[in-house]
Amino acid sequence: MEEFTGRVGVVTGAANGIGYAIARSLVNGGATVVVADVAGADEAARALTLEGPGKAVGIRCDVTSEEDVAAAAAAAVEHGGSLDHWVNNAGFTRDMTMRRMTLEDFRAVIDVHLVGGWLGTRAAAAVMREQGRGTIVNISSTSAKTGNPGQTNYSAAKAGLIGLTKAAAKELGHLGIRVNAVQPGLVRTPMIEKLKPEILEARLADTPLGRFGEVEDVADTVSYLLSDRSAFLTGAVIQVSGGRHM
Ligand SMILES: NC(=O)c1ccc[n+]([C@@H]2O[C@H](COP(=O)([O-])OP(=O)(O)OC[C@H]3O[C@@H](n4cnc5c(N)ncnc54)[C@H](O)[C@@H]3O)[C@@H](O)[C@H]2O)c1
Repeated sequence: MEEFTGRVGVVTGAANGIGYAIARSLVNGGATVVVADVAGADEAARALTLEGPGKAVGIRCDVTSEEDVAAAAAAAVEHGGSLDHWVNNAGFTRDMTMRRMTLEDFRAVIDVHLVGGWLGTRAAAAVMREQGRGTIVNISSTSAKTGNPGQTNYSAAKAGLIGLTKAAAKELGHLGIRVNAVQPGLVRTPMIEKLKPEILEARLADTPLGRFGEVEDVADTVSYLLSDRSAFLTGAVIQVSGGRHM
């Protein structure tokens, strides 16, 4: 039997990048996974199911919509009979200095990462509290810790997710629900393709392990936090950055 056999999880933003790798590690571990994304969810779910041994279902979900997030939680129960794991991963960047950033740019990034993360945590906890168990992981970023120029919106949203993680861990621990966060450094996904080559070089030079992260590096840590192997961890923030910004 695989580690996640009989378990059901929702991963937001799982049609691509880090979210897809997290969904893949759950499906490979035997879980049923709801791929919740604004685009490409069905296609990703089909590819994941082909790999197995678990299965995936796709649902169009905008994490900034209360109704969509509730529907993703309901889909987990409908297709798998429970909701054991939830990962708040969906998001995007709108980098620019404050001189150029509009209020709309600021709000959009806060909305997708922080409001989306709160909606997901709340919807998951509502089901998990009835079951008396569940694990939630929030994908933050090292930008939350250091603050990055051009990312006042993103750094604020990702730092907010840490506060949310800790407050929720305190509220939900007595119900058997654990809430933890991961802070990836630079991971090779389309999100970082927007960065200038000289910026990427400088960041690499500052990384003790001398390479960029791969999506699997993050997925491995997330799957540990979702699993029973981390049974005594809650409110923890684990940095997956090759040692950059330790
Ligand atoms: N790539 C990195 O270097 C890095 C570093 C630190 C943190 N992160 C975080 O990891 C997470 C995943 O990033 P990635 O690099 O895999 O990005 P990605 O662009 O490859 O994937 C993001 C996914 O989120 C989806 N998405 C966007 N808005 C959405 C919404 N409103 N509702 C539902 N889904 C939505 C997109 O469709 C996409 O599938 C993000 O939260 C990101 O901030 C990434």
